[in-house]
Amino acid sequence: MLHYYEPQKSDPSKDYGTAASPSTTLITLEIDGVEVTVPEGTSVMRAASLADINIPKLCASDNLEAFGSCRLCTVQIEGRRGFPASCTTPVNAGMKVITQNEKIAKLRRNVMELYISDHPLDCLTCPANGDCELQDMAGAVGLREVRYGFEGHNHLDAEKDTSNPYFTFDPSKCIVCSRCVRACEEVQGTFALTIEGRGFDSKVTAGQGEGFLESDCVSCGACVQACPTSTLMENTIIDMGQPEHSVVTTCAYCGVGCSFKAEMKGDQVVRMVPFKGGDANQGHSCVKGRFAFGYATHKDRIKEPMIRDSIDESWRAVSWEEALSFSAKRLKEVQEKYGRESIGGITSSRCTNEETYLVQKLIRAAFGNNNTDTCARVCHSPTGYGLKTTLGESAGTQTFDSIRYTDVMLVIGANPTDAHPVFGSMMRRRLREGAKLIVADPRKIDLLKTPHLKGALHLPLRPGTNVALVNSMAYVIIEEGLEDTNFINDRCEDEAYQKWRAFISKPVNSPESMESVTGVSAKDVRHAARVYAEGNNGAIFYGLGVTEHSQGSTMVMGIANLALATGNIGREGVGVNPLRGQNNVQGSCDMGSFPHELPGYQHVSDDVARGNFESVWGVKLDNEPGLRIPNMFDSAIAGSFKGLYVQGEDIAQSDPNTHHVEAALKSLECLIVQDIFLNETAKFAHVLLPGSTFLEKNGTFTNAERRINRVRKVMPPLAGKEDWEVTVALSNALGYPMDYQHPSEIMDEIAQLTPSFTGVSYPLLEEQGSIQWPCNEAHPLGTPIMHEVDFPIGKGNFAVTEYVATEERASRRFPLLLTTGRILSQYNVGAQTRRTDNQVWHDEDVLELHPHDAEERGVKDGDWLGISSRAGQTVLRAVISERMQAGVVYTTFHHPGSGANVITTDNSDWATNCPEYKVTAVQVEKVSQPSQWQRDFVQFDKKQQHYLKEPKNGRQVDA
Ligand code: SF4
Ligand code: SF4
Ligand code: SF4
Ligand code: FES
Repeated sequence: MLHYYEPQKSDPSKDYGTAASPSTTLITLEIDGVEVTVPEGTSVMRAASLADINIPKLCASDNLEAFGSCRLCTVQIEGRRGFPASCTTPVNAGMKVITQNEKIAKLRRNVMELYISDHPLDCLTCPANGDCELQDMAGAVGLREVRYGFEGHNHLDAEKDTSNPYFTFDPSKCIVCSRCVRACEEVQGTFALTIEGRGFDSKVTAGQGEGFLESDCVSCGACVQACPTSTLMENTIIDMGQPEHSVVTTCAYCGVGCSFKAEMKGDQVVRMVPFKGGDANQGHSCVKGRFAFGYATHKDRIKEPMIRDSIDESWRAVSWEEALSFSAKRLKEVQEKYGRESIGGITSSRCTNEETYLVQKLIRAAFGNNNTDTCARVCHSPTGYGLKTTLGESAGTQTFDSIRYTDVMLVIGANPTDAHPVFGSMMRRRLREGAKLIVADPRKIDLLKTPHLKGALHLPLRPGTNVALVNSMAYVIIEEGLEDTNFINDRCEDEAYQKWRAFISKPVNSPESMESVTGVSAKDVRHAARVYAEGNNGAIFYGLGVTEHSQGSTMVMGIANLALATGNIGREGVGVNPLRGQNNVQGSCDMGSFPHELPGYQHVSDDVARGNFESVWGVKLDNEPGLRIPNMFDSAIAGSFKGLYVQGEDIAQSDPNTHHVEAALKSLECLIVQDIFLNETAKFAHVLLPGSTFLEKNGTFTNAERRINRVRKVMPPLAGKEDWEVTVALSNALGYPMDYQHPSEIMDEIAQLTPSFTGVSYPLLEEQGSIQWPCNEAHPLGTPIMHEVDFPIGKGNFAVTEYVATEERASRRFPLLLTTGRILSQYNVGAQTRRTDNQVWHDEDVLELHPHDAEERGVKDGDWLGISSRAGQTVLRAVISERMQAGVVYTTFHHPGSGANVITTDNSDWATNCPEYKVTAVQVEKVSQPSQWQRDFVQFDKKQQHYLKEPKNGRQVDA
């Protein structure tokens, strides 16, 4: 007799109807004479599916709870009466199931007949033709005719909802299976959809019937994916038809690193479908990854290399050879004139690991210095410093999936539902299951509004007082004896602990002393500390609201102290989890982008490590750290730094104190920008090299959980070269030979030189799907959870974290504190998302302020507000919002003309120079026209756009 088992890993191309059961007790039953052994709690439908017996279904899907509404999946069970639904019936030991016989077939045909009698018979012209479960099921049950006719009362004339830019809702095709409603609730956690009415009148409604765009829908697409008919359908499929083939790749937006199937027609992407086999996202997505891919073929793409002598003249489109030899000549001239240290480069956290590795290699080996840095400087560099000091490794400790075991989530300075949406949905699922939530944030973030949240506490601290708050929580833990003594004794350095304990127990750190500093009541801080310390599995998640402060590194260490003191490290459901912003910010740090560290965080002054690189790269390397980005700007203005190669970063828009950055860029004699668009930095460039999008290249990204995911080329690069090929060509032009035929060869070199990557290779990635580093001899298949037994530094290292108030504080002149952040629909500097229909949700940055601050200034919603700081002034429209606290205002930085960074200052973290974006003292007043900087920006932009189009030396630039 054939015998089937639940596999270790499900086949992602298959829908088993219901989810796998986590039980470890195995049950054996018989289905159509075949023996199947499955965990207790498995449904009959899934058990049958494992034996390749596919029971017809419409309302079931293995990413949703079984619902039992369509009755198509009826079976017979020996010894039981009737025809139970196999999706809602759990297996029993010895059960004998029959899935096919005449009676069952007739029942199923009757069910299908009822569905089809109220469904348009336009299959041949339907966009879902060939990919429709209703069509498939009609075939599977052998329905040949419909007896009821279409003349009676039906829904065939129901009006379409086309309000969402990416998908259409056509209720005439709806079979009210409720899969969309359940997907929105169970997978996404938004609860935007309901089934309204009863019986024949029941119908799917978005919000209060206002349509998708106006409702709470966040356009994640889970409902579209769940729909078994063409009722909810991507507009690209309606326009272009069904895809012909697909390639699995990784989203290039945020640090969640979702896997997608890029579904293609020829070399055109028709749709991005979240890949069920992706370990980070498990088949879910957000609006950016799923729908906002149109920028890749946007008309603004730079398609040819371009050069010019000065930023006050038009671009000349030239061949790759000419652009690269022009770049090499210019860089060499600068070095001859100003010295070896006068040039440097910036790697990209948007590019692949292999590309980032090559850029830092180019700088160290071909430029001959360590002047390499990356955008992590302005986001998570304090994470690197803080976690390395305390836990011994610059990375988050868990998998995303570990949240399933978390009992208490402490979320500090992060807004996951906007910035890491798929993980935000996982958090919401766990919160619905009963986990407790503590949020430390000046704003009331949306996670606090999670439907069916059981217990939540908001600590609305004043910007800039994180360290005071975390210290006072730690004070309570020690004072009330809530620390995990066993963990501390076994796993932590005693001397460091005793020193920290003596420090943290000082009365100055008590919640009562710190109340006036943080603005958070001592009672709430005590409560939060108890909930976190006593909650069994407590996990900390933090974002840029922790790192982008003058005490960013101190705060990261404060967080690690809290986790160490409570023993919340080294197992499922706990840990310290930095939510990395950009898709490959973890990777760009791992790959040695910082001026003081070679790949794998090996210090440049470490003779052994440097020696390894020297022997493989065949050059002598500098043993002194090079310049950080802010030092590069300062040196440029001082006249000693004159050449810069920037791959895939827009420092002119993203870095603080725009006036200062612009002055630095203007003073360069050779600025080479490699990007997909003429971004703000490229407007100051002398060489513009076309970049390639994630769809046009091979490589890997590393997400926030250290997961190395493959990026696979689905279309040829628009300008003929993948980004890594450009770096190779530039290096060769400079006289330092690089020779790689494929990014896998670059990964092999990375593995050879980076202890935490020793086992990583493309064949292993193909086999495993993804790998979480460290992956080496000790962990040949990677390391999902870090620090289970010990720390890379042996024992956990408590650090003394004294609170020092930032110099940036509210004053009479600047009485409000500005903090900045992101929103769901736009991404970072917006270069990609602004070139998609995501614009319908956010086409300008606005200033959010509390009603009290608005009233004091006579401000109404929509008024133009001048925002001034000691760095500059800009103008934004007002939005009055209860989620702000009085005294704090907030904006995003997705639109370059908003000038959010004109007002941010160059204050920075004491250890890493990460800018203090989250605290800027400002004044706000009603104004009637844009700021001077904004007017200058418009003029400069016009001029540079003109230079891009205007022919010089004969040839019109094709951009
Ligand atoms: S797109 Fe997402 S949020 Fe919107 S209704 Fe569908 S599942 Fe819900
Ligand atoms: S819209 Fe689709 S998923 Fe939702 S109830 Fe109708 S048929 Fe089912
Ligand atoms: S959550 Fe992040 S990685 Fe996933 S689809 Fe959205 S932007 Fe892409
Ligand atoms: S699939 Fe089981 S009742 Fe619908």
